[in-house]
Amino acid sequence: MSVELVPVLSRAEIEQKVKRLAERVCRDYDKEELVVLGILKGSFIFLADLVRELTIPVQIDFIRLASYGSETSSSGQIQITKGIELDIGDRHVLVVEDIVDSGLTIAYLLDYLKQFHPKSIKVCTFIDKTEHREVQIPVDYAGHVVEFGFVVGYGLDFDEKYRTLPAIYHLKQ
Ligand code: IMP
Ligand code: MG
Repeated sequence: MSVELVPVLSRAEIEQKVKRLAERVCRDYDKEELVVLGILKGSFIFLADLVRELTIPVQIDFIRLASYGSETSSSGQIQITKGIELDIGDRHVLVVEDIVDSGLTIAYLLDYLKQFHPKSIKVCTFIDKTEHREVQIPVDYAGHVVEFGFVVGYGLDFDEKYRTLPAIYHLKQ
């Protein structure tokens, strides 16, 4: 089967969008300390770029969520396969995700994190994909809105492929 990669965002456009997001985050937290919590694996590239643009003090942690479903959509059956390690009690937490699709992963995570009593929780995703949203969740920061389709590159994979592409593409089969 032939696969086509249709450009969505170039490396330069991604860089611009990350800078803009970082400026907003710095303004909003106004020198307050922040725990940046990345969701593995997809967010690691975006997170690495974002935190290097932040001028406020940050600590970094990761959580790994596995959702069982098809290769292109989440089932909503979510399991934590690596938990958080920092104490987020009474801290500001910024959850960093590669893409929000149905919203089920973020909804699950926000609910899970409540037990640690953070001071605040916000969500920052590089791509906000609106077509299949099933639950209303707060997307406080989004780099780019995509209405439909499946996107790869810049951390986003299809069956573990294309993650390391520096730009973002629509995957057309
Ligand atoms: P949600 O729970 O449906 O919001 O899905 C979140 C997860 O599904 C993301 O963290 C991605 O791992 C994966 N996902 C959803 N849409 C895409 C896409 O277009 N490209 C790559 N991964 C996607
Ligand atoms: Mg992901």
